[in-house]
Amino acid sequence: MSESASFVGRDIVSIRDFSRRDLDHVMDMAVVMEPLAKKGSDMLHGRIMATLFYEASTRTRLSFESAMTRLGGTALGFAETKGTSVEKGENLADTIRVTENYADVLVVRHPLEGAARMAAEFASIPVINAGSGAEEHPTQAMLDLYTMRKELGRIDGLNVVLAGDLRYGRTVHSLAYALSLYDINLYLVSPSLLKMRKEVLEEVSGRIKVQELEELNKVIPEADVLYMTRIQKERFGSLEDYEKVRGSYSLTASDLAAAKSEMIVMHPLPRIDEIDYSVDKTTHSKYFKQVWYGLLVRMSLIGLVLAALS
Ligand code: NCD
Repeated sequence: MSESASFVGRDIVSIRDFSRRDLDHVMDMAVVMEPLAKKGSDMLHGRIMATLFYEASTRTRLSFESAMTRLGGTALGFAETKGTSVEKGENLADTIRVTENYADVLVVRHPLEGAARMAAEFASIPVINAGSGAEEHPTQAMLDLYTMRKELGRIDGLNVVLAGDLRYGRTVHSLAYALSLYDINLYLVSPSLLKMRKEVLEEVSGRIKVQELEELNKVIPEADVLYMTRIQKERFGSLEDYEKVRGSYSLTASDLAAAKSEMIVMHPLPRIDEIDYSVDKTTHSKYFKQVWYGLLVRMSLIGLVLAALS
């Protein structure tokens, strides 16, 4: 196992750039952040984060901004390209070279795969990938791991089910890579049109046991974690293809009758129709708790990257 590298000044582009020790360290620091999230801190006083969001977001952007604010720093940026120079035709590289003058860290969400990597190459300050097309969403994977660790007390030994859109869903790509650093069993549940991306499957199945299947109910009794995802309508080549898989899964409270009592249901959100509201009231549902854990993990990451934590 590789050593945990220093986080100071580091880009957070792909989860594949991180060792298990790195991920464990981010989570250890998230524990330290919990009281600070409640009472506030001036750890990052005078430091500035710019959020450059070229794609829709509610949680991720607010979570980063809240994390920075709770640590005493300031957040600025844009949540849509309307009204920015992107509308005039400014390219990403130029926007990065400009905005890095205004901040100490950049948080970038972009519809194109590879955009975060490119931004990191142009920026002299750290870049955090908040979602790069259908490719990756590394900070979501970190908070997903943290949710498992907090709710179940461990990650090793778990049976984890990733269900839904495994082809276009970036959260499940990053999460599968991250989970493959632990000793877990992975079940991949999707319609055949939305199977896990080949390069992710190949890498992950070289490290842990992976089973692909289409039927969700079959794996519910085995699962310790059931991670549901939205079918990513906006990433389909045609609406016709989307219609073929729309509404493939809809988890209800009665489906959970077969589940282990400790089993947790997770979702990166937003949910559409893949988790029925009846699940919200069950003890299994952890998707809103995940949001809180996400805040702590992002406080931890920003603190580490900006050298306020070590
Ligand atoms: C996800 C995303 O943007 O990839 N949302 C999030 O960041 N929590 C999931 C999704 O949009 O389905």
